Amino acid sequence: MALLSLLTPFLAVILCLVAGFVLLKSRGTGTTLTSTDKTNTTSKVDFKPWVDQDLQDNTEITAKEDESDDWDGSHEEEGLAHVPYSPQRYPEKTMLERSRDFYSVMNQRRSVRFISPEPVPREVIDNVIHTAGTAPSGAHTEPWTFVVVSAPDMKHKIRLIVEEEEEMNYRQRMGDKWVQDLAKLKTNWIKDYLDIAPYLILIFKQTFGILPNGKKKTHYYNEISVSISCGILLAALQNVGLVTVTSTPLNCGPQLRLLLQRPANEKLLMLLPVGFPASDATVPDLNRKPVTDIAVYI
Ligand SMILES: Cc1cc2nc3c(=O)[nH]c(=O)nc-3n(C[C@H](O)[C@H](O)[C@H](O)COP(=O)(O)O)c2cc1C
Repeated sequence: MALLSLLTPFLAVILCLVAGFVLLKSRGTGTTLTSTDKTNTTSKVDFKPWVDQDLQDNTEITAKEDESDDWDGSHEEEGLAHVPYSPQRYPEKTMLERSRDFYSVMNQRRSVRFISPEPVPREVIDNVIHTAGTAPSGAHTEPWTFVVVSAPDMKHKIRLIVEEEEEMNYRQRMGDKWVQDLAKLKTNWIKDYLDIAPYLILIFKQTFGILPNGKKKTHYYNEISVSISCGILLAALQNVGLVTVTSTPLNCGPQLRLLLQRPANEKLLMLLPVGFPASDATVPDLNRKPVTDIAVYI
C-alpha cells in the first residue's frame, strides 16, 4: 500500500504522457496526408477531362533513366564545332515594314473547318513540314514526326476513330461548361473535313529517341519543342495560302498511333487537316486582344 502511494505520482505522469502522445498522433493523422492520399486528392481536385492522359510522359522512366542500361549516357554533341553565323540584317525601316507585313499575314490566319477537296501540290507540303522542322528543340533532339495522310481510305479510318471519341467527349466526358464554351464556335463531333481535306498531317511527339545502338535518348521538353514546331507549321501554311484547324483529338492517340503504325515512343499531339478553304467557308467572327492587353513591358 505504501509502495502504491509512493508510485502514484509517477504513474500519473506516465498516464499523462501516453494520453498526450495518443492525442497528438490522432490530430496528426487527421490533417497530414500520406503521399498516396496527396496524389489521390490532387488527382481528384485537378482532374481535367480535356487533358489527354496519353500525352502524360512517363515520369518514372525519366526519373530512372540514369540508372537504367537502356538509356544512352554519351554526350555526342560535346565536341560539336561552332561555325560563324551572320544572318541577314535589315535597316530599321525595312524591319518595321517586315514586322507589319508578317503581322498582317498572320492576323489573317483563321481556324477553318470547311476545307476544299482541291488538290495541293505535294512539294508544298514537303516544304511546310521542312520549315516546321527548323523549330528549336530541347538539346536539339528534334522530337517530332509528321505523318502525312492523303490516301482516302486511311483518312476515312482516321475520321471514324476521331468522330467516335469526339462524340463521347461531347456527350459524356467533358461536361456542360465545355460544351457551352464551344457552342459559340458551332463545332461538334462531325468532322467531314477529315475525309475532304487533301492532306491530314498528324504530329507526334517522340517521348524519347532510339539511337542506332538501340539505346534510348532523352528528349528533353519534347512537348514544348513539338508545340513550337506546330506553330511554325501553322505560319508556313498561312504563308502559302493554305488553311487548317488546329485539333488535339482527345483520347484518339493510342488508336491513331496503331492505325498509322507508329512506335510506342510516339504520342499524338496534333491533327491538322490541310487544304485550300472551301469557296463558301465561314469562320466565327472573333476578335483578338490588342497588343496592350497581351504584352507587359518592364
Ligand atoms: C491546342 C488547341 C486545340 C484546339 N482544338 C480544336 C478542336 O479540337 N476542334 C476545333 O474545331 N478547333 C480547335 N482549336 C481551334 C480553336 O478553336 C481556335 O484556334 C480558336 O477558336 C481561335 O480561332 P482562330 O484559330 O480562327 O484564331 C484548337 C486550338 C488549339 C490552339
